[in-house]
Amino acid sequence: MKIIKVKNNEEAGVVAAQIIEQKIQTNPQCVLGLATGSTPISTYQHLIKDYQNQKVSFKDVITYNLDEYQGLLGTHPESYRYFMNGKLFNHIDIKIENTHVPSGTDTKNPAVYDELIQQAGGIDLQLLGIGVNGHIGFNEPGTSFDSLTSVVDLTPSTIQMNARFFASVDLVPTKAVSMGLKTIMQSKQILLLATGANKAEAVAHLVNGEVSPAWPCTILQTHPDVIVIIDQEAGSML
Ligand code: GLP
Repeated sequence: MKIIKVKNNEEAGVVAAQIIEQKIQTNPQCVLGLATGSTPISTYQHLIKDYQNQKVSFKDVITYNLDEYQGLLGTHPESYRYFMNGKLFNHIDIKIENTHVPSGTDTKNPAVYDELIQQAGGIDLQLLGIGVNGHIGFNEPGTSFDSLTSVVDLTPSTIQMNARFFASVDLVPTKAVSMGLKTIMQSKQILLLATGANKAEAVAHLVNGEVSPAWPCTILQTHPDVIVIIDQEAGSML
């Protein structure tokens, strides 16, 4: 695990965008795994800026997002499809049909998503955030390390944490469709971003904790190619 320490979220975005752009320059048809949450927004802003300055093109890039709330259509303002369109896809030259977010409404056979990823050649670079309880994607504590894409229950703490984006906590979906931990681990390279003091405990487990489903992020210790970008606050318990 390679750890890059930066000052703050803004600087994390600069460094993460550079790593993603290098991947695209090496392979313009690369498959990117993308993440939502507030942490990667600065990364997406830098990718948009560099696209506008003609430093990068996404015209042949394929993307697969980690997760989606169950029950939300892509037109719902808090759906992750809506987030991705608004924060990134609508502002770059990616072909929208090359972008994939798990369906929140057609959830009969979620593992089809893993088959699609395999057919695309697998994920070359997976971007990740991290939950305060160590979840990655929406794989909450206790999730099997062998899990594939499935419908998952969100913990009360995650629902509470994500309530800030909804008008009330009652409107936060209690389930999501998420790539599994095995799906994430099959990515060739992983780039995890963690910024802010509330991520310090999860980062300490990620880097030094015992590998255990109690902290899903710890499985990343067993992946051969992980880059972790942390700011001063998120690294304060290392
Ligand atoms: C959600 C997402 C995760 C994300 C996490 C942290 O639970 N499913 O992919 O990593 O939130 O979000 P934030 O970056 O806003 O702290």
